[in-house]
Amino acid sequence: MIVLRPDDQTWFDAQFDWESSLRKFGIRLPSLPSDEIQTGFTSLSGRQNLLQAFGFYGKAVEYIKSIHEPKIMDFGCGWGRISRFFLRETSPKNMYLVDAMDVAIDCLKNTNNPCNIIYNTKSPPIEGIPDGLDLIYAYSVFSHLSEKYFLDWVQYFLSKLKPGGHIVFTTRGWQFIEHLQSLRDSRGDLPSNLVAYVERLVQDMPTPARIARNYAEGQFQWFPMAGGLELTADFWGETFIPEKYLLEKYGSMLVSFSENTEHVDQSIVVLRKPI
Ligand SMILES: C[S@@+](CC[C@H](N)C(=O)[O-])C[C@H]1O[C@@H](n2cnc3c(N)ncnc32)[C@H](O)[C@@H]1O
Repeated sequence: MIVLRPDDQTWFDAQFDWESSLRKFGIRLPSLPSDEIQTGFTSLSGRQNLLQAFGFYGKAVEYIKSIHEPKIMDFGCGWGRISRFFLRETSPKNMYLVDAMDVAIDCLKNTNNPCNIIYNTKSPPIEGIPDGLDLIYAYSVFSHLSEKYFLDWVQYFLSKLKPGGHIVFTTRGWQFIEHLQSLRDSRGDLPSNLVAYVERLVQDMPTPARIARNYAEGQFQWFPMAGGLELTADFWGETFIPEKYLLEKYGSMLVSFSENTEHVDQSIVVLRKPI
């Protein structure tokens, strides 16, 4: 018997038993990539990785709950850990998964992801995206892009959304500032795989106290840092976007700014295109 709409816990658990999803829920789920591939995108794998994705999905899904077959774009989708949850809300033909790295596109194909898969370059526009989208979301993309790319992408997203549509994205905030301080404090005791990463953060970024001051003042802060493969330091790095900056730029379009969502290590920002 097919369950029409699985509840949250059932749907979360179903991700690890993706082969049964079509039979149980009438929903075709992609498979999961190896832990190594998962870690390469978000430094997490397995249950922890999907808990983080589910925490973010839980926020974003609120904005399309009353829409039948919403059209959704996942910008910087990686291997597809978030989009798989939205297959409970809409059909794969309405989901557009977009990424600027070949390795992400290969991974989506290798896991038999049933959604529209699109490779894009680092600047807008994106070929093959329809107008009138209901939701565009991005996890851990605007926590890395420079201000110019951030502004260009948001402007482009607004042009692709239908009136009243939402943009939900994450960025760096207090959680990461505190994390940077704790990494500095434990420099002597770090596991060997973290030493080079922390040294790079210390070298390429101001002190956490300085970042915190700028953040509190409402500054957009971007520190260039290559992320490997196509993620070159001319547009990639570490990015902190405070609420004050977003309010100044987007005014009443800013509908929510949360820094403490369970399992989510970044701030979540929600913008709404005016009707
Ligand atoms: C840290 S990963 C996060 C992946 C995914 N959002 C997740 O949470 O699992 C950042 C992703 O953004 C993608 N990306 C970076 N710049 C992009 C751009 N300009 N257009 C599309 N994707 C981009 C990267 O290729 C990478 O897959």
